[in-house]
Amino acid sequence: MSQRDNQLRQEAYAEIEKFRDQVEADPHRLRFHIQPPVGLLNDPNGFVQYNGTYHMFYQWMPFKTGHGAKFWGHYTSEDLVNWQAEPIALTPSEWFEKNGCYSGSAVEANGLMNLFYTGNVKDEEGNRESYQVLATSEDGIHFEKQGVVLELPEEYTAHFRDPKVWKHGEYWYMVVGTQNHDLQGRVALFRSSDLSDWEHMGVVTGAHTDQLDDFGFMWECPDLFELEGKHVLVVSPQGLEVQGNQYQNVYQSGYFVGDMNYETGKLDHGSFRELDQGFEFYAPQTTLDDQGRRILVGWMGVPDQDEEHHPTIKHKWIHTLTLPRELSLDGDKLIQKPIVELEKLRKEEISYERVELNGVETTIEGIEGDAFELQLGFEHNKADVFELTLRNNARVVYHKPSGELTLERKRFEDRRMESRTCKIGELEDLRLFVDTSSVEMFVNGGEEVFTARYYPEQENRSVYFASSGELTLNVSHWKL
Ligand code: FRU
Repeated sequence: MSQRDNQLRQEAYAEIEKFRDQVEADPHRLRFHIQPPVGLLNDPNGFVQYNGTYHMFYQWMPFKTGHGAKFWGHYTSEDLVNWQAEPIALTPSEWFEKNGCYSGSAVEANGLMNLFYTGNVKDEEGNRESYQVLATSEDGIHFEKQGVVLELPEEYTAHFRDPKVWKHGEYWYMVVGTQNHDLQGRVALFRSSDLSDWEHMGVVTGAHTDQLDDFGFMWECPDLFELEGKHVLVVSPQGLEVQGNQYQNVYQSGYFVGDMNYETGKLDHGSFRELDQGFEFYAPQTTLDDQGRRILVGWMGVPDQDEEHHPTIKHKWIHTLTLPRELSLDGDKLIQKPIVELEKLRKEEISYERVELNGVETTIEGIEGDAFELQLGFEHNKADVFELTLRNNARVVYHKPSGELTLERKRFEDRRMESRTCKIGELEDLRLFVDTSSVEMFVNGGEEVFTARYYPEQENRSVYFASSGELTLNVSHWKL
């Protein structure tokens, strides 16, 4: 450990100590999500199962609730539900990362955990430099930086980051999020036989290629993997214009499904779909676990949001990761289901069969709280409108004639309502994971997901149901 590394660690640990009570006193502190001990969390990084244990790293700014020279924080878990805080994994201590150990990924090779990440550097004039760096570890806890393994190829601007590495056949492959000199966002592909010499194979896909026209000025956090015989490219493009209900957030995260040609390095793919219909979801990353599951976790936040108004900053922390979702394919659409292990969180089940709603707004005995799972099965729905109101702060509205599902919430800034809508057709079921200040709603068995932070009044724990006509519901509720 270099002196600088040691110093940065000590400063970050001191920050955790200094603000521990203030952070923990926040009523919005989450109960079953990964959140930073202090400061700002953004992207999930290095998500991997290593010697049986799940590792989740995250982009972390310990010294303020804004962005800056990022560290990698670290949690481990045996079950993806109970997470244990580990020592700081990476600090921005070396010349090639002095303005941040930016996002990246982890692979197991030769009995080591290998982290690939972007060293972010700003020179004296504020110009950006980007280095792809390797750090290795035997125990998965203490890392040794091996230095820069990939310099910036001349085809791209210094917006070149977020390496995701995987093995296919004889070779290792790496995708990197890029911008070319015409300011088009693209995904670049590299290949290596030893994880240290990387050959540039070209562009997987991107804006202004033979497969897409205008599609953003920078693509962040690419992740390319095989699923059920197809290939999926998950990516976070920046610069898409709002189109009806689509692309409502400042930046998007979504995917293309297609076929990867490892000889040409190109993905032949269909159209882009968003991964999440809610307000806060960005920069997701996946891993393949030893049960063969492809699991995705995102940042429950978006870049460039008005951070001053987030209610948690007065408690010296901001942002969280989403719950893990298991992926499968239905044609060219991803289905996202909460991982089955989340059932471990359940306490005190309350279930009702065939609850009849008809017109009036009502509560249902025992269905309330500040951290719970709620499952609703819709039977016999003759109502044009169904509404579910959470703690007088967020509301789910299903409009049957249009097949549209909407999530509304009070804005952080001024408590006025804002909404996100998605067309789903018939509503069959909803499964909500509600934490003290977050909502993750899985629709129709994972066909759509809505993710959002919300900040209800402390005392309010109510859940209201309403319908504009006859509707029969099966309801299950667990405290979490
Ligand atoms: C996405 C991102 C990445 C970058 C990281 C820096 O949110 O901008 O592209 O590596 O955050 O924290």
